[in-house]
Amino acid sequence: MFAGIAGRYDLANRVLSGGVDKRWRKRVVKRAGGDLRGKSVLDVACGTGDLAAVLERAGGEVIGVDFTLPMLERAPSKTERTLWVQGDALALPIADESIDVATIAFGLRNVEDRRRSFREMLRVLRPGGRLLILEFGMPDQDAFGKLYRSYLTHLLPRIGGALSGDRAAYTYLDDTVQGWPDAETLRAEMAEDGFVRCEVERLWRGIACLHVGERPR
Ligand SMILES: C[S@@+](CC[C@H](N)C(=O)[O-])C[C@H]1O[C@@H](n2cnc3c(N)ncnc32)[C@H](O)[C@@H]1O
Repeated sequence: MFAGIAGRYDLANRVLSGGVDKRWRKRVVKRAGGDLRGKSVLDVACGTGDLAAVLERAGGEVIGVDFTLPMLERAPSKTERTLWVQGDALALPIADESIDVATIAFGLRNVEDRRRSFREMLRVLRPGGRLLILEFGMPDQDAFGKLYRSYLTHLLPRIGGALSGDRAAYTYLDDTVQGWPDAETLRAEMAEDGFVRCEVERLWRGIACLHVGERPR
């Protein structure tokens, strides 16, 4: 599916989020510590490289991993030093305890076994290393929440479909967002799988959530 929409993915992202995703990505960098000079950073499910590019600009020595080659092929033009690797989030081609900061943005929802990907990211992080997960969430069922749900179900598949040529991909987005566990469940899963200091920050009334956890020292 991602191979099919790769060419229009960035455009659809900008339009559907109204550019807000850029701010969310900057927030990831801030929660990663802000200044990433000298830090090894792994961006899992990096897609076309938008988050990796921001992480590189913050000084990080970044590796971007994704298993969809047509997505990955669009990434190198956005960065100078980042290393791009075709690989699976469930079997990361990365050495144990070699990474200071691991990130995954709008990727976890698509990974077949998220608990296994937690364990993989824990494996590659150095003790004290930090994991940041940026993912869609659901606002409360107030008037705003109802409006947003209606946008997700009715408007987003149409606009996404028109922009990318694949309406099913954006119906899939709606299905996976609405079927996604709530922020507290995800936080508990991270803690169960070995992360400590697990926290969640709701962005834009919960439309997106930023989860942070650390590998124990
Ligand atoms: C919605 S895109 C997000 C891309 C990028 N992180 C961003 O923020 O725009 C999801 C990405 O997850 C990747 N993906 C899904 N499952 C994966 C896996 N098991 N291993 C590696 N990449 C995966 C897809 O190839 C796709 O590029």
